[in-house]
Amino acid sequence: MTDWLWEYEGYDPDEEPLREALCTLGNGRFATRGAAPEADAGPHHYPGTYAAGCFNRLISTVAGRDVENEDMVNLPNWLPLRFRTTPAPTPWWSPDEQPPLEHRQTLDLRQGTLTRRLRVATPAAGPLAVEQCRLVHMGDPYLAALRTTFTAEEAGMDLEVESALDGTVTNSGVARYRDLAGRHLTHVRTGEDPADPADPADPAVPADTADPSGTLWLSCRTSASGIGVVLAARTRTDAPGATARTTLSEGRAARHLTLALRPGEPVTVEKTAALFTSRDPAVSDPLGAARRAAADAGGFAELLATHRRAWRHLWDRAELDVPGEAGRVLRLHLFHVLQTLSPHTAELDAGVPARGLHGEAYRGHVFWDELFVLPYLNLHFPEVSRALLTYRHRRLPAARRAAREVGRRGAMFPWQSGSDGREETQSLHLNPRSGRWLPDSSRLQRHVGSAVAYNVWRYAQATGDLDFLHTKGAEMLLGVARLWADSAEHDPGEGRYRIRGVVGPDEYHEAYPGAETPGLDDNAYTNVTAAWVLARAVELSRTLPAPRRAHLFEDLELEDGEPGRWEEISRRLRVPFHDGVISQFEGYGALAELDWDGYRARYGDIRRLDRILEAEGDTVNRYRASKQADVLMLGHLFPPRELAALFARLGYPLDDEQWRRTVDHYLPRTSHGSTLSGLVHGWVLARERRPEAWTHVEEALLGDVADVQGGTTPEGIHLGAMAGTLDLVQRGLTGLDFTGGTLRLDPAPLPQLCAYGFAVRFRRHWGIGVRVTADALAVSLPATASAPLRVGLHDRTVTVSPGETARLLLAR
Ligand code: BGC
Repeated sequence: MTDWLWEYEGYDPDEEPLREALCTLGNGRFATRGAAPEADAGPHHYPGTYAAGCFNRLISTVAGRDVENEDMVNLPNWLPLRFRTTPAPTPWWSPDEQPPLEHRQTLDLRQGTLTRRLRVATPAAGPLAVEQCRLVHMGDPYLAALRTTFTAEEAGMDLEVESALDGTVTNSGVARYRDLAGRHLTHVRTGEDPADPADPADPAVPADTADPSGTLWLSCRTSASGIGVVLAARTRTDAPGATARTTLSEGRAARHLTLALRPGEPVTVEKTAALFTSRDPAVSDPLGAARRAAADAGGFAELLATHRRAWRHLWDRAELDVPGEAGRVLRLHLFHVLQTLSPHTAELDAGVPARGLHGEAYRGHVFWDELFVLPYLNLHFPEVSRALLTYRHRRLPAARRAAREVGRRGAMFPWQSGSDGREETQSLHLNPRSGRWLPDSSRLQRHVGSAVAYNVWRYAQATGDLDFLHTKGAEMLLGVARLWADSAEHDPGEGRYRIRGVVGPDEYHEAYPGAETPGLDDNAYTNVTAAWVLARAVELSRTLPAPRRAHLFEDLELEDGEPGRWEEISRRLRVPFHDGVISQFEGYGALAELDWDGYRARYGDIRRLDRILEAEGDTVNRYRASKQADVLMLGHLFPPRELAALFARLGYPLDDEQWRRTVDHYLPRTSHGSTLSGLVHGWVLARERRPEAWTHVEEALLGDVADVQGGTTPEGIHLGAMAGTLDLVQRGLTGLDFTGGTLRLDPAPLPQLCAYGFAVRFRRHWGIGVRVTADALAVSLPATASAPLRVGLHDRTVTVSPGETARLLLAR
């Protein structure tokens, strides 16, 4: 293992699902899980390939009801490559039938490859060494490639190799969803284009062979969304005297090569695949495009060189140098964030999939998790942030429609979003512990709208992109503000506004104990973020250029008094308190205390306390027990001074002591049933300079590599937590912030994480270096920078010139 290499020694079928997720390769347009090329989907393997934004809907019957779900579609598999010694009938080699003599997988983060080295025993001719290297091209986002090298170690042997495209796949990667329909692909057709043996650019076509380099293709479409999907693959070998034949069936196209291996002489088979869909820009017909791309692609060495170059450029823009194990994990997180959201994503209509392009959990849906992702991207890949915000903007009409349907003005973004922006949250979910299908009210998490607005604002602050803020950004932000204003009911008794019937980020609490209808009143997080959005809407309305304001107000048919009402509500939304701390929602203080120790003793892992209690015939709604940070999320979104100012504006003075008491209240009452929880608690406690911070940061770092939530990572990585840990070292521990054109810092180093460096892009400054140590901060500008940069630390401000480094000592 080094900083850049993740190595997995040996073969353990039970470990495969986790490895597959962590060894996924992608380029921000599509990704393929790190499944063994010879494996079909089964208990130990799940070779999924997913393209960003490629969804399809199906209707299933569960618990006697028809339910409709939209899924990110598992696309035809380009990977299949299996082998056996001939003459047949020896079985195709499989690690599950015949364990390898040796097996090692290496994920190389620097160059974006997955290499597998194995040795297998053959019945007649001694060991066969196999080395496979694959990539999903970061430069050309349509291509992927797999190079396999076979070496007969002791005696010659004949080998049959099958290189296939498989269109028989379904969405079946998540056990909980297996009762639901999963066959999304229809009209599967296969075919083959012969190679041009006279092509001088194709040296891998030996003259004496039966053309072992033809291009196979497989086309299909998704059943309801009608997205055309095409795979084409060229398979070449350098084996002298190789022969080949093709078998085509409805769901599968396969090229069979027969190779004569001589002892000690490696033979290589290169498979190059192209994936196109009818959603791709600048494409006339996906079938023609895929066939051309696969046939024209360079050899593996050439593809690898351009792929590495693309990765080098990405790493330059996201430089991160954190020592030790934390640094290794952070680099892996960065790798997976960039594989899900790269500059290629900026060309697509796609959002932030909560579980990456790495598996089928949550059906590839887009939640509020972008709140943990965009603040990181803003400072490295602002064009990607802008595209992700534009994904939301395209769905503004759907959000307006959703608001209208509940009788409100403004925009109500869905809790779970997919292709067209309608609400995709399931209406029923399965508790695997009790086997019961239960109503799901998580769609009442209206706070997702504030996340969109927050990201619009922070994006504009970090990038200075006023063009976006004043156009699409303003339309979204004012839409969300309007929804909040229309949702707020005046309570004359309290002299306050209240937002009722929602669910907060905690998710466990969906209803009052014994209530017939779901929803809670005055969720503090919802109300405080709503107040913030309303205040920003007022500010934006004032600062928009006058002609734009006039047009926008006219288009939105804004009434005269509306901004005034936003101002009023932003100052008078209600925040409940109990026992001197902020209440998660009205009535929280009256809930029962849970016997945390008893439950831990009985169940061990109680992260999914909701499922445990439901299986016992009880409900988590009765207890002061949270799944994840809810009130404390406020400390993640707002630096202490900003939070205090927000509360003061609402007429609730919040001092440090009260905030500390609030943190102390929720900390022992949270089960951390989401990977976001460790992250947020680590962040908040680090800002408070509390020693317990590290335990939570560590949990966030281990979330996926150690599959802390017990079996969830194999179904897809947790993108929010991964990006959130990057943002923790970038902004959380440094207090990095922007006011005007000044880069401000307010460090709160953790003893375990106090010396590290990274580079950010701030407006027109690329490659600003920030180096943190326990007692100093250094900010440097590259010599090529075109202008100096102002840097502020507490009450000091210095100007850093191009090529200079400013060292700022921290007060002890
Ligand atoms: C969390 C949500 C999150 C979702 C998708 C859930 O477990 O509670 O906050 O948005 O996962 O990551």
